[in-house]
Amino acid sequence: MADKQAELTVGGENYSFPTLEGSCGPDVIDIRKLYGNTGKFTFDPGYKSTASCESALTFIDGQEGVLLHRGYPIGQLAEHSSFMEVSHLMLTGELPTKDELDEFTHTITYHTMLHDQMRQFYQGFRRDAHPMAIMCGVVGALSAFYHDSTDISDPEHRKISSHRLIAKMPTIAAWAYKYSVGQPFMQPLNSLSYTGNFLRMTFGVPAEEYEVIPEVERAMDRIFILHADHEQNASTSTVRLAGSSGANPFACISAGIACLWGPAHGGANEAALNMLREIGTPDRIPHYIERAKDKNDPFRLMGFGHRVYKNYDPRAVVMQKTVREVFDALKVKDPVFETALRLEEIALSDPYFQEKKLFPNVDFYSGIILSAIGFPTTMFTALFALARTVGWVAQWNEMISDPGQVIGRPRQLYTGPTQRDYVPVSER
Ligand code: ACO
Repeated sequence: MADKQAELTVGGENYSFPTLEGSCGPDVIDIRKLYGNTGKFTFDPGYKSTASCESALTFIDGQEGVLLHRGYPIGQLAEHSSFMEVSHLMLTGELPTKDELDEFTHTITYHTMLHDQMRQFYQGFRRDAHPMAIMCGVVGALSAFYHDSTDISDPEHRKISSHRLIAKMPTIAAWAYKYSVGQPFMQPLNSLSYTGNFLRMTFGVPAEEYEVIPEVERAMDRIFILHADHEQNASTSTVRLAGSSGANPFACISAGIACLWGPAHGGANEAALNMLREIGTPDRIPHYIERAKDKNDPFRLMGFGHRVYKNYDPRAVVMQKTVREVFDALKVKDPVFETALRLEEIALSDPYFQEKKLFPNVDFYSGIILSAIGFPTTMFTALFALARTVGWVAQWNEMISDPGQVIGRPRQLYTGPTQRDYVPVSER
């Protein structure tokens, strides 16, 4: 705890609040007793200045463009690690030894199948349902199938449900895709890696062998790593808030998926690629830049700007590099990449974007890679949800294990009518 006190004067009275010191980042003013002492609330819609919890998982320095998972820089993890390793790191706090990694990977691999009855859920959806609509429903429905891991007071239950969620998410997402294209569901194959398995369940068909292309598998695994966690973002906060009431983890993650679906959050990579395709050629960029700057035009440069990063998103750096690797491996080219590079260049030299500190975020390039691999844009957010499940689950576990955990219950600044008497309809 920092020894500094924050002084506040309210209505002529002086109050003192302790400040708390984290291992990195700004100190926080502990205002838990603010209402009790002063009778006032704080007003912070969008939580721009509010730390909603204590967490030891992920740290972001938005000014410097730094992202650390359990202390490790995202660039190093993306370069040298694997999604399974990062998942272990997020859940346990440490990178695994070789034996621990083998055991963890084995556990996840042996939880990838879905209860066979869950197939019937898919049949209930329209074929043109958005994969995120299916994901919300099917992930929430896991709680109806896996009762043996929904006692959140039991650490063993929490562990099993965490493993189940991470393991089953690729199957759920791949099946959402299969259903939309009318192909048979592919069962997981235990000889493949987490990511190779997902690629096969998505793009393989029972009629023939599916060959996992190592470069694509590596790129996909890296995309998963880049999306694994991002501290208290909207969907993670949703998971925490849902979980704070004691709801089971499957229901909580389903709530996180719903939040992630929005275009200002996980839906941005779909929106970014659609925007790049709409722009088409570099000569049309200035028109869209002008639109983005026009206050009377709702258009925003999708994949640009971030609530926390006021510098280059470190994940975007890795993404840009990965585009080239995937293009080389698949021997494809997409003119949209040239448009994206040029758009970035023009935007970053424009005073509007410079002054507002708007840089490319993780979503700016990810859609180009995913599209080259063969995913339709509607699957982009589903892939994000798959990867972010690790972060959600780790954050949920951290919250539930915290002995000081209480139900989340924000207050409000009420601006509606004051008390008035009911008038019968005949007299209105
Ligand atoms: N294009 C044009 N102008 C922008 C953009 C953009 N992409 N982003 C922000 N601005 C402007 C805003 O108009 C605002 O201008 P003003 O101060 O003159 O009113 C200023 O920059 C600050 O923007 P806010 O929306 O207040 O910033 P906030 O932190 O609330 O929003 C957000 C961050 C939602 C990500 C925003 O930058 C945005 O909408 N970007 C496009 C969508 C996107 O890429 N989302 C992905 C986020 S990353 C993720 O979820 C994985």
